[in-house]
Amino acid sequence: MQEKIEQLKVKILEAVKSVNSSKELHETKMKFLGKTGEVSDLLKGMREVPKEERPAVGKIINDLRVWAEGVFDEIEEKIKKIELEARYKAEAIDVTLPGKKTATGAYHPNTLVKNELISIFSGMGFEIFEGPEIENDYYNFTALNTPADHPARDMQDTFYITEDLLLRTQTSAGQIRVMENKKPPIKILSPGKVYRSDDDATHSPMFSQMEGLVVDEGVTLCDLKGMLDEFAKKIFGENVKTRLRPSYFPFTEPSVEVDVSCFECGGKGCRLCKGTGWIEVLGAGMVNRHVLEGCGVDPDKYSGFAFGMGIERIAMLKYGINNMKLLFEGDVRFLKQFKD
Ligand code: DAH
Repeated sequence: MQEKIEQLKVKILEAVKSVNSSKELHETKMKFLGKTGEVSDLLKGMREVPKEERPAVGKIINDLRVWAEGVFDEIEEKIKKIELEARYKAEAIDVTLPGKKTATGAYHPNTLVKNELISIFSGMGFEIFEGPEIENDYYNFTALNTPADHPARDMQDTFYITEDLLLRTQTSAGQIRVMENKKPPIKILSPGKVYRSDDDATHSPMFSQMEGLVVDEGVTLCDLKGMLDEFAKKIFGENVKTRLRPSYFPFTEPSVEVDVSCFECGGKGCRLCKGTGWIEVLGAGMVNRHVLEGCGVDPDKYSGFAFGMGIERIAMLKYGINNMKLLFEGDVRFLKQFKD
């Protein structure tokens, strides 16, 4: 028996040598100490041992069990330590590593300008109206005092869809839709995309405009000038002045082109204002009687002014952008600069 036990001890020591994980340790332990393990088998063999020798043999086997448990405990401790270290290593966080950056978006300069314009004009009591981008000839031209044979149609290169349908060339079309549906007093602001067959550094086939229309009793050119002064100061700076130059638009009479004093040089003359001290920013005028009449508004009772400006043009002036293409290409390197 003693010999058997010695052999088993050697076997156990040999077996634990190749144990590398808790799982293997458990399996090996069960092989010897489990219910059907080799140590337990020895106990089962007790039946054949003469009765008087049983206590002594039992003690030897029990000592073996205690010894074996000690061996396994020792190994278990070592393995646990190794495994814990491995886990710590695998889960380690290097706090000195640079963090992952989450890219955030920013408003497009066009949106910035559009929002600023909306905020300025809604502060003056304007409501927003958005008309359709596909218009018919009547709203885009005829009702705006520009009948088919009118030379002013050549001022804008129009994309026609059918003989009657077109991509609107101006947000002015919205003026008609509003006046047809609303009685004065009217005070609306109409932002939106417009289309023209035009393409160079300062023109794009698609661009955005912001239209304004005020109709009420006793509205004068003075009201227009006063409102524009206020607008120019808010968008370009407190010291900016405005001036009106005579111009021509079929739907306004008189028509004006509105300049602001150059906010870059203060009016002395620089590259931005091409040495003139003034920068053209929008078209405006008193709504033509024919236009009011055509919409069912009595021109003897009511008068109004209208204005229209290019949002990209304002953005280019405000941010010193020299090519309109930059506003449409979506180049992140360009757009990043407008992140505040
Ligand atoms: N619709 C004109 C254009 O696109 C701009 C404009 C001029 C609008 C005068 C107006 C206005 O409302 O009164 O060139």
